[in-house]
Amino acid sequence: MDSSLHAAPAVPAGYGLETVVRHTYERTRTDTSGALADYIPELALVDPDRFGIAAVSVEGEVVSVGDADVAFTIQSISKAFAFCLALEVAGREKVLSRVGVEPSGDAFNAIVFDAETNRPFNPMVNAGAITVSGLLVEHLGADALDFVLDRFSAAAGRRLVVDEAVFRSEAETAHRNRGIAHLLTSAGALTAGVDATLDLYFRQCSILVTAGDLARMGATLANIGENPLTGTTAFAVDAVRSTLAVMFTCGMYNFAGNWAFDVGVPAKSGVGGGILGVVNRQLGIATYSPRLDGRGNSVRGIAAFRELAEELGLHLF
Ligand code: DON
Repeated sequence: MDSSLHAAPAVPAGYGLETVVRHTYERTRTDTSGALADYIPELALVDPDRFGIAAVSVEGEVVSVGDADVAFTIQSISKAFAFCLALEVAGREKVLSRVGVEPSGDAFNAIVFDAETNRPFNPMVNAGAITVSGLLVEHLGADALDFVLDRFSAAAGRRLVVDEAVFRSEAETAHRNRGIAHLLTSAGALTAGVDATLDLYFRQCSILVTAGDLARMGATLANIGENPLTGTTAFAVDAVRSTLAVMFTCGMYNFAGNWAFDVGVPAKSGVGGGILGVVNRQLGIATYSPRLDGRGNSVRGIAAFRELAEELGLHLF
């Protein structure tokens, strides 16, 4: 085999998780390319230089470097967890009757549905995620937000709250998502009402987390639904498997193929600057760096995950 295909590892073999994460942080921190999301006005106000990495193993090892304790809004990373909860609450058949599990290759905010079924392509793009929020409202009514907050908090191991300023900023400017919700209603994928559904969707996107929280939430998925640090069950086992499968194929939008090729683990990004990766039965890893590329994925987050995947041998294949 041509050994030049694989660059020499930056961290000598045998070093543990903490050393690899620290090296990765140092090697990727100098990249300041990309730009803050500004289509939600409040997101343009964050400090662009923040950078943190956290990892939590299912055995309970916790590593955190840089700004891993700085809070930011979870945004689209919430879509993975909301899908997991909808599978539990509404059941697999009903969820699949409203939203597909097929990668779309489209941008996160694309206004495209599957022409054959009238369903959004998958629960990771906005159209699919709004459909999922609609299912939670349909089944839980006014309790839906508390349910989401309770389960997200159980996975994070601490009480999470909504950033009201970011919520309002998105709600006041979300003409595109509002348009998508109306189209979903006319297609029959959304029956819970546009306003109640978007209220839940915008609030779930505005939940404040740190990279440390996301790493614990990821470790909970890696540990098939049970938070490995607290022993609390946050998600149903079957739903976790389905969620990780969709994160693997669709979590990075129109970068999902490249990500699967280079990094090779289920992941989800958010325009708040977070990326969550899950190494099944092993690790939750999260990065926070709010400068994004043109697809809405964190630039330094992608660089750090590429490096971590190489150094820790994370790739599934
Ligand atoms: O719906 C939106 O546009 C945002 N609340 C979330 C988008 C997002 O995070 C896309 N991810 N990279």
